[in-house]
Amino acid sequence: MGTDSGDGQAQADRAFFAAAEQVLVAGVSASARINPALGRAVLVERGDGPYMIAPGGTKILDFHGGFGASFLGHNHPEIRAGVEAALDMGMVLGPETEHPRRLAEKIVELVPGAELVRYSNSGSEATMSAIRLARAHTGRKKILKFEGHFHGLHELVNFSTHPDPKEPVPGELIKPTIDSEGIPEEFAEFTLVAPWRDLAAVENAFARYPDEIAAVIVEPVNYNSGCLVAEKSYMAAVQQVVGDNGALLIYDEILSGFRTGTDCAQGYYGVTPDVTVLGKAVAGGMPLSVVAGKRGVMETFSPLGGAAHSGTYTGHLLGIMAAIAVLEEITQPGFYDGPDGIMAMAGKLYSGLRDIFARSGIHCRVQGLGARFGMYFGLDPEVEVKEYHVAATHDHALLSRFVSSCFAQGVYFHSYEMALGHHGFGGAHTPAVMEEALARIESACAAM
Ligand SMILES: Cc1ncc(COP(=O)(O)O)c(C=O)c1O
Repeated sequence: MGTDSGDGQAQADRAFFAAAEQVLVAGVSASARINPALGRAVLVERGDGPYMIAPGGTKILDFHGGFGASFLGHNHPEIRAGVEAALDMGMVLGPETEHPRRLAEKIVELVPGAELVRYSNSGSEATMSAIRLARAHTGRKKILKFEGHFHGLHELVNFSTHPDPKEPVPGELIKPTIDSEGIPEEFAEFTLVAPWRDLAAVENAFARYPDEIAAVIVEPVNYNSGCLVAEKSYMAAVQQVVGDNGALLIYDEILSGFRTGTDCAQGYYGVTPDVTVLGKAVAGGMPLSVVAGKRGVMETFSPLGGAAHSGTYTGHLLGIMAAIAVLEEITQPGFYDGPDGIMAMAGKLYSGLRDIFARSGIHCRVQGLGARFGMYFGLDPEVEVKEYHVAATHDHALLSRFVSSCFAQGVYFHSYEMALGHHGFGGAHTPAVMEEALARIESACAAM
């Protein structure tokens, strides 16, 4: 099945987006809707389960999943039922309903670091609140993040997400790169950047800025650089250093949340952070994010403490009801560990991809943990990629050829300008879907 067969669809898409440029910046609602490997955004009409449906009815197998939000697949009946229940209630009401509490009880039950919960809408909004919480709680100004980790597009964190690869000096901080025009460089004074997996750099940061660092924020699985997984001992050591120095550990689980199990990456590592941020998968595609954490820390939020946190759409019922449905689904027996569960499908997909690349003579390292994964084209298939500066040396041109060839076979992988990007699947990717996907990907590789 070729979505670009005869280039008819590509031409139609280009015509559509050219017209859209009259009213939307660059013809799209967000810059990341453009898939640079394809040279355009793709026009679809709807999503259904693991597929997206293009105009004319072509079914495209989706390994992007709405930037990772559609974890149960598109148009999931139980999420839809939750959303419809929210519509019946009137969507957003000034007073409280029982449902934010119901969801919070479930989050507290499942996520080790969650003792108290607050909501927001996007991931960026949630990391902003988590950092404010940490600053208010500690009375300190600086935060430390890691190179290659992404925490949203706002002024507090939009640094050093995908800089040019440069081998860091062991034990040393990295000068932050500012990822967007319009962010005053003064913001970088509050943000320290360390190389991922370099414990000495974190220790030295605390030695150099004693009593100044409010929080260390991490993507516990660095899916935004493909899939970089740290040793459990490193994650425990980071927690120890952060705690010893009176700072807070923030796990940004917006992408990692629920990919490996209901206890998220923190359960996988056995490390309970002070503050956890959830988004994307938690509401299966509805805009809901969560800031959760230890009681004593979360009580810094107003009105118990002085850190302002509120908003017109905070705790919006559409997201709350969708999330209750998602958590109900993922706590069903076998969702993760059953014969057709997430972990079994992960094994099937990642080993299938490795075999296809080997048979096709394509040099690519596949790394996955749970339901999300990275593909490092041009790097040794047998050598684990551990660090950002290595991940960033991947062969972007080869990645683009792969994405484009797969799309011609009806399989969607997203790509970003020069950055690695991340891929994933979810509860709608059954064994039969995985087999169909691998067959199409094999044809795509043969055609490259
Ligand atoms: C780890 C992580 N944090 C934060 C964000 C920002 O989330 P949002 O796009 O919902 O603002 C993202 C988005 O990709 C993310 O992957």
